[in-house]
Amino acid sequence: MIFDTHCHYNDKKFDEDRMEVLAGLCEAGVEKAVNVSASWRDLTQTLELVKEVPFLYGAVGIHPDHVGELNETRFAELRTFCHREKIVAVGEIGLDYHWDVEPRTVQKEWFIRQLHLASEEGLPVVIHSRDAAQDTFDIMKKEHAKTTGGIIHCFSASAELAREYVKLGYYIGVGGVVTFKNSRVLKEVVRSVPISSIVVETDCPYLAPAPYRGKRNSSAWLPLVIEEIARIKDMPSKEVEEITYENAMKLYHLV
Ligand code: NI
Repeated sequence: MIFDTHCHYNDKKFDEDRMEVLAGLCEAGVEKAVNVSASWRDLTQTLELVKEVPFLYGAVGIHPDHVGELNETRFAELRTFCHREKIVAVGEIGLDYHWDVEPRTVQKEWFIRQLHLASEEGLPVVIHSRDAAQDTFDIMKKEHAKTTGGIIHCFSASAELAREYVKLGYYIGVGGVVTFKNSRVLKEVVRSVPISSIVVETDCPYLAPAPYRGKRNSSAWLPLVIEEIARIKDMPSKEVEEITYENAMKLYHLV
């Protein structure tokens, strides 16, 4: 049984065949998935999609590139969405210094407010961090540690920082990137973090694993990610699949 902890099935790249793709996932062994929001539009689409698809759960939150869409009214509305059925996390939230779409002070302010929201509402967080590893960690440690936990999605920092997050009780999200030949640091992260702190994710439609790199991704290709983790950790794939599934169930409070 596979748990895709991070996907975007509301994305327009699935407009032609969304329900067909979702219906086919069961055959690939995918038992559960969490559709994660980035923009306000994603968030409203996620709320609808989880009603239609039994095995799909949702995360509500605003990505650093889109925090310009937030205001007090919407923030209050976001809080009410946390109480909706099948909403299991706040995300994706964080910092993105690669694109720097919004000023860093604005990114930080909404990141912190959404972290507090998650703690207050008892939901874990899904964290996006790009070219902002140290600031993200410092804020997490100061503003959220020892509250509701969560996933550092598409982890791209050092093994040392990964171990620091694990110490604070967070899970490391590993996706298609781990299958790329040049992903030396991520392979090292997987080697050095206990399997009890790893979850698998697609970030689909993005980040398809090798040999499908560049194609439209879906949860059906997660076995390739699981196999690579198993190879790195010298464990049977089946065991990686089961443990990462249980990790996700626990962290999203589905058990
Ligand atoms: Ni994402």
